[in-house]
Amino acid sequence: MTDKKNTKVRRTVTDGAEISVMLSPAELEKRIKEMGREISDDHADGDLVLVSVLKGSFMFAADLCRAVDVPHTIDFLACSSYHGDVVSSGEVQLTHDLSSPVAGKDVLIVEDIVDTGLTLSYLVELLKSRHPRSVKVASLLDKPSNRKKQVKVDYVGFTIPNRFVIGFGLDYAGKYRNLPYIGVLEKV
Ligand code: IMP
Ligand code: MG
Repeated sequence: MTDKKNTKVRRTVTDGAEISVMLSPAELEKRIKEMGREISDDHADGDLVLVSVLKGSFMFAADLCRAVDVPHTIDFLACSSYHGDVVSSGEVQLTHDLSSPVAGKDVLIVEDIVDTGLTLSYLVELLKSRHPRSVKVASLLDKPSNRKKQVKVDYVGFTIPNRFVIGFGLDYAGKYRNLPYIGVLEKV
């Protein structure tokens, strides 16, 4: 069910939650294709590996890797800092490691969103300690107003205001990752 409010579509999903759409599937698709082109231009040579940060970035990574047209591999790691809450605990833990070494490679960390920056700065330091040729970051979303740790994001999809967002891989208490758009939970 959809209706219009402030030009943005509001949707009610099957569990009754009300969600306002911040970024539509078409907006996401267009921007991810642009990011893929930019990343391809910057990695014409070298040995590129996309490191998808689970679970949140799985959908973005799937679209981004199809938009990158230079040869590359893809690997996954997982870390937790939220423990099911909407406010970061500030503590980052690696819960699943990469399947292959990254020494000598051009690492591109693929994130869903950078909020406080704590997760990303932990990951950048961790991967740099493994002697890659380079480490860069692509994040679909950036919420710069909530930074606690400054960290460079080389490729940003969209800079968004300080709202808790869901969909396109991002969750609230494990749910809503499947939504094909980025939305704000207005009512649970
Ligand atoms: P940070 O360590 O505070 O930068 O947060 C990084 C992680 O927290 C992201 O990779 C997300 O998994 C999660 N996160 C931060 N903001 C949001 C949000 O608005 N919605 C859903 N997850 C979020
Ligand atoms: Mg994440």
